[in-house]
Amino acid sequence: MSKRKGIVLAGGVATRLFPLTLSISKQIMPVYDKPMIYYPISVLMEADIKEILIISTPAYINTFKELLGDGSKWGMRFEYKVQEKPNGLAEAFILGEEFIGDSNVAMILGDNMFYGNNLTKILKNANERENEATIFGYYVKDPTAYGVVEIDENKRAVSIEEKPQVPKSNYAVPGLYFYPNSVIDIAKKVKPSARGELEITEVNNEYMKKQILNVEVLGRQMVWFDTGTYDSLLETASFVQTIEKRQGIQICCPEEIAYKKGWITDKELLKLADKIIKTEYGKFLKELAKGKIIF
Ligand code: G1P
Repeated sequence: MSKRKGIVLAGGVATRLFPLTLSISKQIMPVYDKPMIYYPISVLMEADIKEILIISTPAYINTFKELLGDGSKWGMRFEYKVQEKPNGLAEAFILGEEFIGDSNVAMILGDNMFYGNNLTKILKNANERENEATIFGYYVKDPTAYGVVEIDENKRAVSIEEKPQVPKSNYAVPGLYFYPNSVIDIAKKVKPSARGELEITEVNNEYMKKQILNVEVLGRQMVWFDTGTYDSLLETASFVQTIEKRQGIQICCPEEIAYKKGWITDKELLKLADKIIKTEYGKFLKELAKGKIIF
């Protein structure tokens, strides 16, 4: 069992989704049948991370507390922290210093979703690297809206740039990062960028310079979405709907992961199912608790 702790960063103003996000947090909005933040939380859970710090804005932190509580319903532990201003991703490690303590840490952005056969293995590899950092590379047609990593034939990072106008590769860096404890000190040394943010790309560059940065390329069998625009929000929801309806299974379902990992009992799962039993989601959980879904 990994001792690594997790952070879900669910801050920001989400200006690209206005007016949807004028009075609601982006990461609480629906992606088909569940709140957006369930998706990144379930990725950390797959990585065996049971202790998670949720970071959000002063306006919305209580909404997350209401939704997720202290985590015990999923056999987990959640803490909460406010990010006063959207000062950048790297600030999460400064805000999270006390929570992280002397553990290693993984951070995922509250609007990122991952799905695919290989995910568990990829997460396990990243998790096992106690003294090195791991980021991911995902081939996209247009990487200009992302961090972009250039990799050599040994899959080592050669350069990482934040939202370059002329990208050196097509590998976007998804919002999922595994770091050793040293990330706290590294984050403290990052200077604000031109857009006034403590960029995660700076942190990654630091690990690249130290030659302890691994890049795991997510292959064609993996799905990564960042739901920051109307189109990507709808595309992600359609994807989830398509798979869930076709197979009658759930994608990124925290209750299912908690149950399969033995963090909650079948009785506890049934209780969670009962609360939402009018939905396909609730019915799925019930079948699962009764042992009818085995894969
Ligand atoms: C952030 C990061 C970027 C990363 C992206 C993934 O961008 O700065 O490096 O590729 O998340 O979702 P932002 O969402 O702040 O534009």
